[in-house]
Amino acid sequence: MLPSLGCHAHRFACVYRAGKSVTFDADSTILKYMNILVIGGAGYIGSHVARELLDRGHRVTVFDNLSSGLRENLFQEAAFVHGDMIRYEQLVQSMNGMDGAVYLAAFKAVGESMVKPEKYSVNNIVGAVNLLNAASETGLKYIIFSSSAAVYGEPAYLPIDEKHPTNPENYYGFTKLEIEKFLSWYDRLRGIRCASLRYFNAAGYDVKGRIKGLEQNPANLIPIIMETACGTRGGLQIFGGDYDTPDGTCIRDYIHVSDLAAAHALALDYISANGKSITVNLGSEKGSSVREVLETARRVTGKPIPAAVSDRRPGDPAKLTASAALARELLGWEAKHSGLETLIKTSWDAYNQA
Ligand code: UD1
Repeated sequence: MLPSLGCHAHRFACVYRAGKSVTFDADSTILKYMNILVIGGAGYIGSHVARELLDRGHRVTVFDNLSSGLRENLFQEAAFVHGDMIRYEQLVQSMNGMDGAVYLAAFKAVGESMVKPEKYSVNNIVGAVNLLNAASETGLKYIIFSSSAAVYGEPAYLPIDEKHPTNPENYYGFTKLEIEKFLSWYDRLRGIRCASLRYFNAAGYDVKGRIKGLEQNPANLIPIIMETACGTRGGLQIFGGDYDTPDGTCIRDYIHVSDLAAAHALALDYISANGKSITVNLGSEKGSSVREVLETARRVTGKPIPAAVSDRRPGDPAKLTASAALARELLGWEAKHSGLETLIKTSWDAYNQA
């Protein structure tokens, strides 16, 4: 077992090198590996993050209640705790000895959050409070939080940067914004450093094909298109064809999950090396319409993928794109795999094999 090389100022002077995947101890150039609890690590994004942290040499424990996570998304090199963050004692026990935690266990179905707010309050907000209190109790120093572009609501301007007003239009986005506020108070009062990563539209599968578990009952565009291509769904409903966009369908900023995973590792390096919290957007800065996604999927899969325009979905803005300038500047991060072709190809590889 490698020794835990915490990056506390009194022990090491850490040097952060933008764009590099690791931090170094200034005196001995020893790589700094941490003990990380990945909460929700058996889920879609969580499994990609766990894989990335393992690849970079961190020691990973996945903590997951398997409500939507899958055992097939677990890796041999990572420890696994079948636990629920709503059970505070379970969380505290698992956090003992950890340097950091990644919080990816929130519910994320926007539509459901509007009809079942109680479910989202308990799981997302109570879960986050438990995490923060457990961090205080155990001395955990770093939290990476999977936040969302949903904190912004209807865009006042594009591309959306981190200074854009936050005014969530759905309860899911509200929970993400409230959690960000809790995190910033615990930074101030307890010195817990945090990175809130505001994802735009996460999509795609591991570029090396190592993640096999498919999301059950997906509500997002690309998995729905993939299920249609596989024949497990009859067709795609295009929610609105009369938006003020070139082809009339909504434009979104799709970001590859492998790019997101890399950003988590870089954010952990950054907050530990610099001793300060950050809030950054993660997007590809490219906008793709529903029709463009559909046409790319038809081409890549070679399947007809039946689709028909239906009514607009309430609350959908016509166009959303990110500015990721801050992530580039602070983390040396850039989206490398987020071309539409790669997003669809890696998704199809996963769905076609299942
Ligand atoms: C929303 C959130 C995003 C969150 C994500 C998680 C907002 C503004 N965005 O993204 O922050 O991370 O959910 O689930 O709240 N579409 C169809 N037919 C379908 C499904 C989707 O046409 O069957 C269209 C939608 O109208 C939209 C696009 O595809 O224009 C993407 O939709 P979706 O994948 O659901 O994500 P968002 O709603 O953009």
